[in-house]
Amino acid sequence: MEKQHQFFTTPIYYVNAKPHLGHAYTSIAADVATRYKRMDNLDTYFLTGTDEHGDKIVQAAEKENTSPKAYADRISRLFKDLLPLLHIENDQFIRTTDTDHIKVVQAILTKIHDSGDIYFSSYEGIYCFGCERFYQERELVDGKCPDHGVEPQVIKESNYFFKMSKYQDWLIDHIKSNPDFIRPEQYKNEILSFLKEPLEDLCISRPKSRLTWGITLPFDQDYVTYVWFDALVNYISALGYPDKNKFKKFWPSTRHFVAKDIIKPHGIYWPIMLKAAGLPIYDGLNVHGFWNIKGSKMSKSIGNVTDPIEVTQEFGVDQFRYFLMREMVFGLDANFTEDVIVSRINSDLANDLGNLVSRVLSMNHRYFNGKVMGAATLVEYSLETDAVKAIDAFKGAMEICQFHKGLASTWTFISAMNKYIDTHEPWSLAKDESKESTLGTVLYNLMEGLRVVSCLIYPVMPETSRKIQLALGLDLPARGFFKLDQILPWGQIKKDVCLDKPEILFPRIEIKNQVPTQTKNAAIKREKPFKPPLKEEITFDDFSKIDLRTGTILSAEKIEKSNKLLKLMVDLGPETRQVIAGIGKNYAPDDLIGKQVIVVANLKEARIMGETSQGMILAATHKKKLILSGFDKEFSPGNPVK
Ligand code: MSP
Repeated sequence: MEKQHQFFTTPIYYVNAKPHLGHAYTSIAADVATRYKRMDNLDTYFLTGTDEHGDKIVQAAEKENTSPKAYADRISRLFKDLLPLLHIENDQFIRTTDTDHIKVVQAILTKIHDSGDIYFSSYEGIYCFGCERFYQERELVDGKCPDHGVEPQVIKESNYFFKMSKYQDWLIDHIKSNPDFIRPEQYKNEILSFLKEPLEDLCISRPKSRLTWGITLPFDQDYVTYVWFDALVNYISALGYPDKNKFKKFWPSTRHFVAKDIIKPHGIYWPIMLKAAGLPIYDGLNVHGFWNIKGSKMSKSIGNVTDPIEVTQEFGVDQFRYFLMREMVFGLDANFTEDVIVSRINSDLANDLGNLVSRVLSMNHRYFNGKVMGAATLVEYSLETDAVKAIDAFKGAMEICQFHKGLASTWTFISAMNKYIDTHEPWSLAKDESKESTLGTVLYNLMEGLRVVSCLIYPVMPETSRKIQLALGLDLPARGFFKLDQILPWGQIKKDVCLDKPEILFPRIEIKNQVPTQTKNAAIKREKPFKPPLKEEITFDDFSKIDLRTGTILSAEKIEKSNKLLKLMVDLGPETRQVIAGIGKNYAPDDLIGKQVIVVANLKEARIMGETSQGMILAATHKKKLILSGFDKEFSPGNPVK
């Protein structure tokens, strides 16, 4: 039977430090998966929250001279407040200090204890106080704790243990007979290979003499439960186990999102705990890799812990979400540097997507004053086949959380649309009055293509999706997104509506420490009569470094506070550039629309009067006037000038 409900979770994060980019990634990934499933008509529930008990929290609170609860309240708030800033739409935020959660943990412990799977025993082992856990000899590096670099101490302690070993064969069988239980494959193999060794029983308690900041065992008041028996249970306590409707509806249709650091508790302890408690096992675990920062592990001592709020403030929320989902191959590690995010934003978002939207809507404005000319009647001009391919590839990838592939297939469609413009040359069709209906059809198909793209980017970039849909004059559905089965049929944009001029969706990001080259030479005072100064000779190689391209001016407007600067949008074929040009004294903005010019396309970006300029257009000077260079024939923009 087709599923109707799906429950998504993130790990509940420790409150021993504030949220960083890694936490943001898991929460955004789970948000993207949830949004996608909502598009697929499923009733979803999305849970995240904080893990607040344990020694680490006590120590962190002591450092701040405060109580564990007050400390946990403060940090938990930071995790909670981060969610709307990242446009994450969670349904619930759980804290392990919530009374309801504590009651459920105790109920589960009682159940498993009563069935005989929890026993009391004394244990001698090597213990790292920093990690608050016992180690196996084989886990040590040179006899030391791999995290703290100190020799663990031998301690003897009586504790409660959970009989995991009893369920080892059952678990191996469960994993093998449910191929989607742990995804991607490499993590399933990791767990199966771990399960080749005999499983040790899990120590689940700490004596209160050593740790009080935890949940008291219902069958022994002198002990608290330790870490995983508290934390993992959040996934069902949040739903109101055992009898609330939410629990009945969403459990066990659950996919947990975690990184590779906690696959053992999620892939081994948790299913066995559920089995021992007589509960159905969750559907599956989605495991991702780690974000490194400039090639190094994120760590306080290196000082490279990256704050997601700062990144979104600098680059924008949709840009950050896109970058995270596109750059990381789900399952593998990825690297965060400012260069990589800037290059993703400038090339994928500003150049590919942003320019496509701006090109299509600008042309519709130029040729039809913004009016949508109508339905695609000419099959040969349709982009529908490419759109269908993109939708199918997107679904296939999103179903298995390969978000980067889902985006890549959408970008393949974006490239196909850019090629379609070059093939059909709307600017040539515009010259021929008899081709007006073909021009309308070509533009309509492009707008339909944009509509499809706007739907496919929704899970990752909800805000941009909405902006494009509004720009296309679409009525937004009540919940703010189109469902998968509403994307087709082709031809939903209303005919005859008038669309506004496009706004820039993604401003290009300037590379830091850049000298505004365009203004550098502007102030040279010249003797009269003017004689062009003879410049230093250059080689052919020097000259060939300059990338000159033909461009068509799509729009022009005056820059306030300047009597000569104009802001031009110039179509360069595969992309549209904003160029600030000092020709305002010689040309009226309206006279420039549609003009072909020569653009220096590889000039470093510069800021001029607060505006970004992404190139320079060539003009001759004559009697103090500027005369734009041009050609005696019109043709498509973007050609090299030799
Ligand atoms: N409290 C436990 C989880 C209990 S779940 C029942 C815990 N908390 S944690 O704060 O350490 O969070 C670990 C999780 O944070 C990882 O599994 C991952 O989701 C996220 N990440 C932490 N660092 C990360 C990276 N460097 N990169 C990607 N994700 C990372 O473990």
